[in-house]
Amino acid sequence: MPGRRGWVLGLVLAWGRVLQAFGAAPDPAVERGSRAMTATGYLKPGWGDDAYRRVGQFWGEPAPDPATAPEAYSAAFIRRYGLNPAPYPNDGLPMGLRRGINPDGTRTGLQVDCLVCHGGSIGGMSHVGLGNSTLDMKSLFDDLDRAQGKRPPASPFVLNSTRGTVNAGMLSAVLLSVRNADLSMRRFPLPLGANLPELDVPAWWLLGKKSTMYYDGRTDARSVRANMQFLLGEKSLQELKDLEPTFRDIQAWLKSLKPPRYPFPRDAARADRGKVVFEKACAKCHGTYGPDGTYPNAIVELKVIGTDPARALGLSDRLVAHYNETWFGEEYAVDEQMIGYQAPPLDGVWATAPYLHNGSVPTLAALLKSSDRPARFKRPPSTDFAYYDQVNVGWKYEVVTEPPSPGLPPFEARFIYDTARFGLGNGGHTFGDKLSNDERLDLIEYLKTL
Ligand code: HEC
Ligand code: HEC
Repeated sequence: MPGRRGWVLGLVLAWGRVLQAFGAAPDPAVERGSRAMTATGYLKPGWGDDAYRRVGQFWGEPAPDPATAPEAYSAAFIRRYGLNPAPYPNDGLPMGLRRGINPDGTRTGLQVDCLVCHGGSIGGMSHVGLGNSTLDMKSLFDDLDRAQGKRPPASPFVLNSTRGTVNAGMLSAVLLSVRNADLSMRRFPLPLGANLPELDVPAWWLLGKKSTMYYDGRTDARSVRANMQFLLGEKSLQELKDLEPTFRDIQAWLKSLKPPRYPFPRDAARADRGKVVFEKACAKCHGTYGPDGTYPNAIVELKVIGTDPARALGLSDRLVAHYNETWFGEEYAVDEQMIGYQAPPLDGVWATAPYLHNGSVPTLAALLKSSDRPARFKRPPSTDFAYYDQVNVGWKYEVVTEPPSPGLPPFEARFIYDTARFGLGNGGHTFGDKLSNDERLDLIEYLKTL
């Protein structure tokens, strides 16, 4: 007979397992991290209170009145810039925008947060942590600046030539270049030589499996500080240090995220056959799935993967060396040698079109047959399922044969994805080419189950 103590302990352990099984006892760090991301802001206002209400004047079509029809205005704003409604309380603002925080704690004006890029939607349903595949960040920033009577600043790099891609790498490279190794501000930027392209935004739910992160796999996925690089926009070293525990919670939450399930019917027999194809042709890089799943965390050399090299090559040695000298690199240094792309986990891959690190391939079918990839195509205006292709899995697209005419307004031109642009090439990853059409269909059916 167990003693009274042992009995009580047994009961407590059993109850713990019951709670775990029902997901009723979440890690408190995960809870705190979720709130830290969705209910808290970290940056001062970048635009005034009225910028949000005044941008409608730049849309070239009559905008709903933000005072008398705030919901219609919000919906039009969301459509215009490719944002998504916030699935949490956000002062009536779309996901990714929030009120700024002043030094005295008051909340005024507007600012962007991580979710402007990492708050996506699928089938029109907002999903925190899904990359935003419709965002036109350049239009959003330029219009907000103009609404404030400011001239948009001349940018030393292309923020986005296309909706849904964004040059997050150059944003951080520029922020780091105006700091010394001790993170004090510099008057003149360091010439770090980085030349990074615009990118598709990866889904956060993949992070939990990864031991290295970012498309090139050169950063340890345990790094909390790497996730704080955008705070360099205004924070001092001391302020960064004070926020590190909060970002540790945010990281715990990021690693707990799970993908949405494929919502349409599937052909189970095909998917079973596709699993066999996958395990032969794909698993050595992408791992296996299900309860005993494995993830090899493979980083594949450029000459093997053959996808657009600009992202992998654009991180200059000088930028890496500078990063590694700072408080960021002190935690986990960026690998100084590695050049290639990490084979990502494919969980929830049905929801993350377009594919590859630059979003150059609109469907899984085209990814698996390189001769079918369009050189120039129109991106959908929203993630509504009306634009979703259940057969080829990804976004329906219209092929554009002529290059965009120089007269086309930039807002319109950014609907066109042109693989001839810097960093946007759609070559490489030809591992599906040798499969038969039937094997490809089986494989696509299997990929829907992940
Ligand atoms: C301007 C858009 C943008 C913003 C804002 C942004 N990110 Fe990202 N994020 C990206 C892109 C693009 C990548 C891929 C970068 C790469 O690999 O070069 C990325 C990568 C990541 C990754 C690595 C994911 C992986 O699996 O490799 C994490 C983690 C992450 N971001 C967290 C954050 C956090 C936290 C914030 C807010 C403090 C944030 N991001 C703000 C665009 C953005
Ligand atoms: C030699 C390793 C390797 C093999 C084999 C391989 N892949 Fe990949 N895969 C990669 C790498 C690396 C990437 C990222 C490339 C990039 O973004 O430039 C990738 C990207 C992908 C993506 C895009 C993911 C996204 O969200 O953008 C999909 C889908 C994919 N692979 C499916 C497959 C399938 C299916 C097979 C089997 C036919 C396969 N891969 C075989 C290495 C491999």
